[in-house]
Amino acid sequence: MTDVATTVVDAFAKARRFERADEAHALGLYPYFKAIQHHGRGTVTVDGEEFVLTGSNDYLGLTHDPRIKEAAKAAIDGYGTSCTGSRFLTGTLDLHVTLEHELAQFFKKEKTLVFGAGFLACATSVAALGGRHDIIYFDRENHASLYDGARLSYAKLEKFEHNDAADLEAMLIRDAGKPGGRLVYTEGVFSMSGHIGAVPAVAAVAKKHGARVICDDAHASGVLGPHGEGAHVHFNIENDVDIVVGTFSKSFASIGGYIAGDADIVDFIKHTGRPFIFNAALPAPNAAATLEALRIMRSEPEHREMMWKNVNFMRDNLLTLGFDLMGSDSPIIPVLVRTDDMAIRFWKALWEEKIFTTPSVSPAVPVGMSIIRTSYNAAHTTDQLERTLYAFEKVGRALDVIA
Ligand SMILES: Cc1ncc(COP(=O)(O)O)c(C=O)c1O
Repeated sequence: MTDVATTVVDAFAKARRFERADEAHALGLYPYFKAIQHHGRGTVTVDGEEFVLTGSNDYLGLTHDPRIKEAAKAAIDGYGTSCTGSRFLTGTLDLHVTLEHELAQFFKKEKTLVFGAGFLACATSVAALGGRHDIIYFDRENHASLYDGARLSYAKLEKFEHNDAADLEAMLIRDAGKPGGRLVYTEGVFSMSGHIGAVPAVAAVAKKHGARVICDDAHASGVLGPHGEGAHVHFNIENDVDIVVGTFSKSFASIGGYIAGDADIVDFIKHTGRPFIFNAALPAPNAAATLEALRIMRSEPEHREMMWKNVNFMRDNLLTLGFDLMGSDSPIIPVLVRTDDMAIRFWKALWEEKIFTTPSVSPAVPVGMSIIRTSYNAAHTTDQLERTLYAFEKVGRALDVIA
């Protein structure tokens, strides 16, 4: 008879063997989970010291806007701090309904559905729409929330080369005889490379082969389009992108997510999307903050203009210094340093210069493509940006990343 105790491994064993984080801590080289004591505009305080913050997603610099703070406070007074229930049952507020209505107009879509997180909105769109015989085509660089949504769906997942509509077309032709529908997912701005998505080319190929197109605009809302409407409006292809998904945790200075599209499709997701139905509703202060940010976004283009001014300043200067920015053309500017070891050493040296950056190492990026991920926004002052450039130049030369 087999002894059960000798054949069954402890399911916790892999967790107990995980020592990478402890080792990095011991060497003083652990760059993550830094506890921020105070958020300024463009700066943060950590361990009592002020750092220039690069890498936040507050693109329009609205997280400290007094009107948005007031709207959040008033919503707490009116509705309390939590909805304590699903939108489906007791969690829908009139605030959600107003927000959905104004967002639909803004995105130029029939209907919008608001979620408790961008991750949930993105994942739910894939999980609900990916049916049993369907095939989903992802740009390789798509966000983890979309990948996890694909795991929740019944559809088959295929990946096409990043921003490569020709590769997508070859796959659609290859699969032409197979049953089921086709869903193509891309992004307006990719979160690691900072590339603006090849949405027009991808959408054109998809339409030609009868596929539906979904664009994750988490980093494009507020950033692309005349008022920040996103990639579909920026590229003037409103009808070729069937569904837009995204988040309120970046330009909208809040938290939460959305799906925008035709009314019948949004209604289908509303009644079948399990991560939406079995999740508590977006809290009132976050719904109110998002609504106020949306109204500011629509009426005050100066925030986006200031963001692009700062972004262009940083991109031009970092390129002049000789850094490889991987072709970024958005507020996300990755600085390629190649090895994981270099990314950690580079991050640490910048930290000592009081510049807060985030290294991205494998497996988050392919081996040999490690980066210091930075991003710039409307709240950064010229002085903060110049301090950042000075530090990058000093560290880049010291570590031989630039000549
Ligand atoms: C492309 C993309 N999609 C979705 C999300 C998820 O949004 P959230 O963090 O607001 O849940 C993110 C956030 O990092 C993202 O970068």
